Amino acid sequence: MINPKDHKQIVFFTGAGMSAESGVPTYRGKGGVWSRYNYEDYACRAAFERDPEKVLKFHELRRKAALKCKPHDGHTLISRIEQVFPHVTVVTQNIDGMHQRAGSRKVIELHGSLWRLRCPDHGISEDIGETYKSYSCEKCGGWLRPDIVWFGDALDREVIREATNYIGTCDLFISIGTSGVVHPAAGFPSIANANGALCIEINPEATPLSYLFNKHIREPAGTALFKLFPQFQQQ
Ligand code: OAD
Repeated sequence: MINPKDHKQIVFFTGAGMSAESGVPTYRGKGGVWSRYNYEDYACRAAFERDPEKVLKFHELRRKAALKCKPHDGHTLISRIEQVFPHVTVVTQNIDGMHQRAGSRKVIELHGSLWRLRCPDHGISEDIGETYKSYSCEKCGGWLRPDIVWFGDALDREVIREATNYIGTCDLFISIGTSGVVHPAAGFPSIANANGALCIEINPEATPLSYLFNKHIREPAGTALFKLFPQFQQQ
C-alpha cells in the first residue's frame, strides 16, 4: 500500500493499456489499432496531405469508439487521489480524454487529443462529439487536422518541457499500460529512475523498459491500482 502523503511529487504515466479496461483498443498486439489500420494511410502528415477527408473520417471512428466507452474505476481512483493531494500529475500518451472525464485536472497530453482540431494559421479549437462540426477552418476555409501527434511529428516542446519537469522532480513514478516503444515518451521512465524516484510498472506483460522499475505489478490497471491504493477504493 502506498500513502501519497509520503511522497512530494507523484506522476502517473499512462498509455493505451490504461484505457483498455474501458474498452478502448490498444495500439499494438492482438486487436490493436495498428494491426487493423496502416498508420501510413491514417496517422501521418503525408496521409493527411494525400487525403484529408479519409484521415478525418478515421479519427471520427475513433471518437465514436471512445465515446461509447467510459472511464473505469482505475481512472476514478487516480482523480480521487489528485483531489486530496495536489502534488499528483498525470502524464499520458492517450488521446481519448478518459482521465479528464474521470475528473483529473492536471493532465499533460503528450500526443494531443481526439477532441481538438488545428488550423495551421488560426490555431487550435475544441471539438467534442462523434463527428467533427466542420472539416474546414471558419476563418480561412482550409482543412482542419486533428490536434494529434502522428508518426513523424515532433511533440510540442512546451508539453515535453512541462512533463520532463514533473518527471524529473517526482519521487514516485507509476507507469501504467504502455509498451514503452514510442519515443520521446519511452525515455521518461529513465528520467524518473535516474532521479531516484520509486518507479512502479503496472502492465500484465514485461516491456523493454521493465528493468528501470523497482517494482512490477503484472495485472490490469484497475486491479493493480486498487492494490497500491486500497484506501482510495470507492466504498
Ligand atoms: P501500446 O498499444 O503500444 O501498448 C499498450 C500496453 O498496455 C502493452 O504493453 C500492454 O501489455 C498493456 N496493457 C494491455 N492491457 C492492459 C491493462 N488492462 N492494464 C495495463 N496494461 C495493459 O500503447 P502505448 O504504449 O500507449 O501514439 O503506445 C504509445 C503510442 O503509440 C500511442 O500514444 C500512440 C501509438 O502509436 C500516437 O498515436 C502518436
